[in-house]
Amino acid sequence: MTKYVINGGNPLHGEIEISGAKNAAVAIIPAALMVDGVCRIENLPEISDVKTLLSILKEMGAKIRVVDKRTLDIDCTRVGTTHATFDMMRRIRASYYLIGSLLGRFGRADVAMPGGCNFGGVRPIDQHIKGFTAMGANVSVRNGIVTAVTGDTLRGVTIYLDVVSVGATINLMLGAALAQGRTVIENAAREPHIVDLANFLNSMGADIRGAGTNEIRVRGVKRMSGGFYSIIPDQIEAGTYMMAVAGAGGRVVIKDVIPKHLESISVKLREMGVTVVELEDSVIVQRDAPLLKTHVKTMPYPGFPTDMQPQISTVLCLAEGTSTITEGVWDNRFKYVDELVKMGAQIRVNGRSAIIEGVPYLSGAPIKASDLRAGAALVIAGLSARGRTVIDGVNYIERGYEKMISKLSDVGADIKGLSEREDQRYNRKMG
Ligand code: EPZ
Repeated sequence: MTKYVINGGNPLHGEIEISGAKNAAVAIIPAALMVDGVCRIENLPEISDVKTLLSILKEMGAKIRVVDKRTLDIDCTRVGTTHATFDMMRRIRASYYLIGSLLGRFGRADVAMPGGCNFGGVRPIDQHIKGFTAMGANVSVRNGIVTAVTGDTLRGVTIYLDVVSVGATINLMLGAALAQGRTVIENAAREPHIVDLANFLNSMGADIRGAGTNEIRVRGVKRMSGGFYSIIPDQIEAGTYMMAVAGAGGRVVIKDVIPKHLESISVKLREMGVTVVELEDSVIVQRDAPLLKTHVKTMPYPGFPTDMQPQISTVLCLAEGTSTITEGVWDNRFKYVDELVKMGAQIRVNGRSAIIEGVPYLSGAPIKASDLRAGAALVIAGLSARGRTVIDGVNYIERGYEKMISKLSDVGADIKGLSEREDQRYNRKMG
């Protein structure tokens, strides 16, 4: 699809099933490279980032068998090369996990510097490099290619991360799984997908403890062998649909979730006057009263996730009073604000903060997604607005949300995707 067209104003009613977590899947697929034998991975989301990673593995010689639409058998036993096409690697951020998995298995990695979402600021990987260097690798970055080489295998050490980094925690955990000796990652990130990756590696024979706390201890093993694993539900996909109900109104059961992972989001929604009821593996979200202002600061887990910041900001545009947002993870994640302003939002950005004056309604407009979560936020804006919104740049959304159009249509949204040809026809019709 190239564009989404949304006629806003329909409240949402029904059920939405949540897919497997993107950010767990993009770590677990590279992890499969380190395993001898077949990894059966269930609950993989059907999104373009997953497809790209699978193509990279295939190119390296992995055997991939589709068991059903969400389950794959990945066998990397015969992978003999550490190379894949750099262009493909550049398409996604998570290609940097190949540094940890290739170094761990082959003692060498040549990986193109990560691409993926660009929400304005720099996205450094100095903490990954610092960790691998401490483990005995020689790491250089030249012409956008990271080359990491170690004499024999990585050596276990204690690494203190200067910033709480999800990517560095995951990458170093991957490298440490097959390293010689014991690695301790201090000041580690605690996101649910870090625990998921540790569980995956442990179920393949690794020895990792402490994932989910800020100190992860890994005892390197000689080899890991195949097994079964089912990926956790996507916390951010669930949170996005929870915000969509808050913005558009209605009552939706968000199914197949782990409510504990959604706590920081549920708490904020309740402060905004939205009802959230937690059941065993679902949450009910209902909004039938005016939205109330609140104040949000994004933080590493278990704080409010930065990946939900554009979505909650969008909903707060419709809340009575003045709300504030402080971005506590990234230097700059407010590129989408200009698009919301085109729809009538009143937002002022000042460095890492945004001040939102609630308005009674947003108006549909032609707008453009600049990254994955910004794109999701614009969909919420379109669903909540009066009139028609046309969103360009939806390839970002499709990197991380499985079947967003059908999930939203099923609960009553008026949203459709336009292919390139349909888009040209639509433009001719609109003059
Ligand atoms: C992961 O990115 C996610 N991506 C991001 O989600 C998410 O926003 C982010 O974690 C924070 O939760 C994936 O999982 C693929 P970080 P990552 O390393 O690992 C600084 C989405 O929308 N930092 O935790 O790249 C960095 O600048 C995506 O799904 C360093 O200084 O993020 C940032 O300020 C977008 N040096 C902070 O740490 C480093 O070496 C957190 O970054 C690494 C990071």
